[in-house]
Amino acid sequence: MAKGLICAGGEATRLGELTRMTNKHLLPVGEWPMVYYSLALLQAAGVKEVLIVTGQNHAGDFIDLLGDGRLPSRTGEPLFDLDITYKVQTKAGGIAQVVAMAETFAGDDKLVVCLGDNIFEYAEVDAIREFTDEQESGAKIFLKEVPDPERFGVPQFDDAGNIIDLIEKPVMLDKRFTEAPSNLAVVGLYCFDSTVFDIIRTLEPSARGEYEITDVNRAYMERGNLTSHEVSGWWRDAGTFESLGDIGTLIGKTGANKVRSAATN
Ligand code: DAU
Repeated sequence: MAKGLICAGGEATRLGELTRMTNKHLLPVGEWPMVYYSLALLQAAGVKEVLIVTGQNHAGDFIDLLGDGRLPSRTGEPLFDLDITYKVQTKAGGIAQVVAMAETFAGDDKLVVCLGDNIFEYAEVDAIREFTDEQESGAKIFLKEVPDPERFGVPQFDDAGNIIDLIEKPVMLDKRFTEAPSNLAVVGLYCFDSTVFDIIRTLEPSARGEYEITDVNRAYMERGNLTSHEVSGWWRDAGTFESLGDIGTLIGKTGANKVRSAATN
């Protein structure tokens, strides 16, 4: 069975005063602490064992909140029935560095990776299961059309619609580009087979000094072993204090991590 990884480290400097007392991923968004949304997504996709990697400051708050992963809601029904393991990333060295920390945890199993600040309207359960249950090997990325692709990892396509490159923050970080090569963002949900750890060992840090997840995805693409899926509904990353309010409003309107019934597929 596939295992889950939640990346919940990083510096969260853009959140200023809000992250003095706790970790960004424990701040309230909508009706829950932020990290609940990644846990709910993994649980909906059938993942049981989850590794949470967080920074050293406030790491204990995660255990206070989540314990071993078996968590009843305030009204008594089970909210999470997961088996949670924790690890500390002492210095934020990039998302690929966090994935590397999951090597012994994952063993030979596939890994579903969530960035702890990404929140989805739909849990994309079918696409995740297609990878965990059917795709023999390789990786799967998830895409969403956005108005500001320069802020994200972005795929470049050929005329036939095949992904021919993946660029981390074109214009902003990757200065070879004067504009983004498409209007799609690679969102913070990734599926990997166990060769991901060998790929990460070959990486060099990027211009921002991080081991980039985009470089990992490009390596799978170059091997011809990368699939992609465009997510439906809204998707947001909660990087700024303004976004926390906006996402809360969206969740209030539509809910999050919804699972489509067979009838609506
Ligand atoms: O939100 C999607 C984007 O996330 C992707 O489109 C980009 O390709 C990907 O690089 C990433 O971009 P950001 O620069 O916005 O990532 P950020 O530094 O905000 O970190 C994303 C999450 O990963 C956040 O919840 C914290 C966690 N993280 C990040 C770093 C750098 C860690 O746990 N450890 C880290 O070292």
